[in-house]
Amino acid sequence: MASLWSVWSLSLVTFACFGRACSSHCPVLECWMVPDKARAGASNNQEKVLLNVRTDGHHAASQDAPPDGIKRIYSVGDPAATLCHRSLCPLSGSAHKPVCEISSFLPHPSTVKWAASLTESAFSPLYLQADWMAASIQGLDAQLGVSNVLRATTGTSDLDVVLSVSTTTVAVTAGLGEPVLLDCQFWADRASPLSGFAIEWRHQFRGSGEMILAYDGKADRLSDTPEQGATIDFAGLHQNRNASLIIRETKVSHTGTYICMVYLPNLLAQVTMELEILEPPSLSIHPASLPLIVTGQSVTVHCEASGFAPHSLDLSWEFKSPDGKTRSLGPGRISGHRQAWDGTYSQDTRLELDTSTLDLGRGGEVTCVGEHPGGTRRASGTIRIIGFSTPSIEDSMAMVGVALVLYGLIKFVSWTFIPSVRTSFICARRLKRG
Ligand SMILES: *[C@@H]1O[C@H](CO)[C@@H](O)[C@H](O)[C@H]1NC(C)=O
Repeated sequence: MASLWSVWSLSLVTFACFGRACSSHCPVLECWMVPDKARAGASNNQEKVLLNVRTDGHHAASQDAPPDGIKRIYSVGDPAATLCHRSLCPLSGSAHKPVCEISSFLPHPSTVKWAASLTESAFSPLYLQADWMAASIQGLDAQLGVSNVLRATTGTSDLDVVLSVSTTTVAVTAGLGEPVLLDCQFWADRASPLSGFAIEWRHQFRGSGEMILAYDGKADRLSDTPEQGATIDFAGLHQNRNASLIIRETKVSHTGTYICMVYLPNLLAQVTMELEILEPPSLSIHPASLPLIVTGQSVTVHCEASGFAPHSLDLSWEFKSPDGKTRSLGPGRISGHRQAWDGTYSQDTRLELDTSTLDLGRGGEVTCVGEHPGGTRRASGTIRIIGFSTPSIEDSMAMVGVALVLYGLIKFVSWTFIPSVRTSFICARRLKRG
């Protein structure tokens, strides 16, 4: 029996290394055992252990020595199969592996107000007298984050998941004003004597944290928190253990790390996720219709980028001649960032188009380009340059046209408004003849 197990476990390990480890089964997870800091003199070396996940509730006893480099093999009973997600199965030969950490866990009553009712009887069940561990696992490509609290019958390698909290929205990006769902599901072993739960959602950004929501599920009581435009579906929470946070309309201030914490009496597990608000800029170019300029003259064009978040933006200018060739005109003179009341940023750039130094030919399209993580935006204007050194037929004709119009205008003005000049001119001629 023992040798059968060792063949089976080795083949599983081999499979985990060389194949899709678990297309239809639960994985054998490689985890780092994080040393217990509280234990005096404990070495700081992390050790590798294997979690052999099973959903059927039967633990296969192992008396064998684990393979090389592995400290211990645990058999993990996971009836909810949260550890059997496909993102926890590495592809064959791939360097990408799920990240798993396991450490010992000490059950203790929570001191926070919204979880206090869970342990108010002050009687600590015998059930808690066991070895407890906490595992935190990140699936491939940020598809899943799971945090479990596991109970071991003292002295064995058999662990059972008692509380599991998971999220499929580890990293979320959303545009401004969109609704967002931050997923958080939990599972608690109904066979355990620990009844009742509490939920807490926290938000952190650049070192400052705030509570978004705290709910005592046993007393069905929501703690007072400032309005954040976020809620949970309480019916779904009680029926399906769905503690997902619903943000109705994102603002720039919603950016940051979110923590979904689930309390059971004496136990706590949490998952974290990142929300990024990505809003590309709106660009406008001034003057909207660029003036006709004469060679040697210069004109300043101005481009304004507004309403974007986060503040990383690359502004630049491009010039496209009528033959379709595009070249860069550089960044121009870029201003600093300004922040609007809604948290979005604006920034502008000015470009001096000096026709005596820049070879712009007869003109073309001048484009302001804003490259932003949320997308690239452009705004263009057309510029016409006259008096080019070898004028084209159109330019010559335009110049002749302008000259004719000017001549006509002078004529008209002189004949209409300066009759005295005309009369004196005629008199002068008559005098001359006479
Ligand atoms: C959890 O609840 C939210 C809000 O009601 C819903 O949109 C989402 O689909 C639910 N998730 C699951 C896995 O049921």
